[in-house]
Amino acid sequence: MPKLILPNENELNNVEGILALDEGRHLAYCASIVPKDQNIVEIGGLKGKATCFCGMGSFYGNRARVYSLDPWDLHYGEIGKTYHSEFQENVKQFELESIVTSIVGYSYEVVKNWNAPIGLLFIDGDHYYDSVRKDYELWAPFIAEGGWIAFHDINDIWPDVKRVIDEMIIPSDLWSHKMVLPTDYGFFMARRNHVPFHR
Ligand SMILES: C[S@@+](CC[C@H](N)C(=O)[O-])C[C@H]1O[C@@H](n2cnc3c(N)ncnc32)[C@H](O)[C@@H]1O
Repeated sequence: MPKLILPNENELNNVEGILALDEGRHLAYCASIVPKDQNIVEIGGLKGKATCFCGMGSFYGNRARVYSLDPWDLHYGEIGKTYHSEFQENVKQFELESIVTSIVGYSYEVVKNWNAPIGLLFIDGDHYYDSVRKDYELWAPFIAEGGWIAFHDINDIWPDVKRVIDEMIIPSDLWSHKMVLPTDYGFFMARRNHVPFHR
């Protein structure tokens, strides 16, 4: 899988978050090839580390819009703290406000109002089976032919993520280029084939 080495990747990698540099490079590459009339969607924005890699990749590519979804109400990490303001500061730091939009909400709620083609879907929200599967089932049908799907955390700590991939993607002819990238956290990518999605 190609990587995009961005000129400011060290600064991007300094954003607090759960993403390895190599994973950011793969995301940035995929984001850079998304056509302008398609969208990049991230489920699980946290403080915006992956979002900024996607946004910067898109900036150097076709400037497709990036939507990052998160309820930002889970007090993820620290008690009593939401990270939405840090997310917004990070997006601003890289001057990505014209490319990145945050949507406050749960993926399964936000999808009810979604109706646009996706060129890159990055699933990195709740890592338990029902949630990962729901994210796949609700969002993947919007991925355009030739578009990409990516999952984070293909590792023993989060076996449910791999289980969803093994059940839904590996046996399916909807997807080609199926690959687990040997990154720090484990990263899976696949490309949408030219086969109709049965919704
Ligand atoms: C592992 S973190 C994401 C890390 C982030 N992508 C990064 O680059 O650092 C998971 C995030 O998913 C969010 N989340 C959990 N369930 C969600 C859902 N159903 N929809 C959207 N976001 C969700 C959590 O609030 C949390 O911020």
